[in-house]
Amino acid sequence: MTDPRPPIAMLAELTHRCPLSCPYCSNPLELARQEAELDTETWAGVFAQAAALGVLQLHLSGGEPASRRDLEPLVRAAREAGLYTNLITSGIGLTERRLAALDAAGLDHVQLSLQGTDADMADRIGGYRGGFDRKMQVARWIGDIGFPLTLNAVPHRQNLHQLPRAIEMAVEMGARRIEVATVQFHGWALRNRDAMMPTREQAREADAIVAEARARLKGTLVIDYVPADYHSDYPKKCMGGWGSTGLVVAPDGAVMPCHAASSIPHLSFDNVRDTTLERTWYHGSAFNAYRGTDWMQEPCASCERKRVDFGGCRCQAMAIVGDPAATDPVCIKSPHRAALTAQADAHAAANAPLVHRTAPGKPVPDPVD
Ligand code: SF4
Ligand code: FES
Repeated sequence: MTDPRPPIAMLAELTHRCPLSCPYCSNPLELARQEAELDTETWAGVFAQAAALGVLQLHLSGGEPASRRDLEPLVRAAREAGLYTNLITSGIGLTERRLAALDAAGLDHVQLSLQGTDADMADRIGGYRGGFDRKMQVARWIGDIGFPLTLNAVPHRQNLHQLPRAIEMAVEMGARRIEVATVQFHGWALRNRDAMMPTREQAREADAIVAEARARLKGTLVIDYVPADYHSDYPKKCMGGWGSTGLVVAPDGAVMPCHAASSIPHLSFDNVRDTTLERTWYHGSAFNAYRGTDWMQEPCASCERKRVDFGGCRCQAMAIVGDPAATDPVCIKSPHRAALTAQADAHAAANAPLVHRTAPGKPVPDPVD
């Protein structure tokens, strides 16, 4: 294998704490407690190392990054390191004054999540009464300051009918981009497949809505689209290929090739408290486990698309097939595809209640399947 190129982007999960409790949360079942979180100084050192390694974009995420009281100094440290900073937030915990302070600290961009297009839907999905109204206020403040804005909508069976309105809202808010990321089933979300799996018809409808809106809004709004992959023929190129473009630092300092990598039990992760990001990126065992194509099994190993999608998502192969080196079962060439289709249809036809995310340190309910 040739040496990997440096990473372009880093996702810094500043905390797992979050005022919302979205059922589609892809963070792991066991969350990092506040006591385990990296402190301001350690994060600042990590940002400097990331920039030296070649990272250009820093995505500040969580949980809810605004739950960190030191968010402003963290943004300042990232800017001083020369990183482009993007805040991924639900908006809860941001005030007008705090947004102004983030602007002064050098924040470049805001990505605001949208759980629904009205209070009934958004507050029910987010599990936070009053959250929608609060978010709309935050969106106005973001517009007043003039932060470039991306809206992040997660369509699923219960809210997919609101997708056209979500796109309209992005235009009304002056967003430059909307990410339409159909629910992915990792971490906590796996237990909500019976409540949230879109039907096949909904998946096709979403494809059509996005295609029509892309044509109509060309030059006004960019629409990034992640289709419902259980209903797709080929898997997504997850993380742009394992260990190829980005890395994730968890709240406790674990460095991972993707945010769900802790679901792969045999991997062990370096920690920024013990070693450098550079060493981890080039030599860490987790990063080299599925880098490139040498690790692939059939049918990926001899497939003409193996450098197009790099075999799909390792975490999905783990979750569904129990083997992280298997072809992503979404692929039509996977021997597990027929079973996945039946599973997807059964989940889509089920009528289960939402299981909202629990907070760090709180008991995790038993799995539903
Ligand atoms: Fe991608 Fe593997 Fe499917 Fe080929 S066989 S399309 S490489 S997932
Ligand atoms: Fe881990 Fe796709 S989420 S490789």
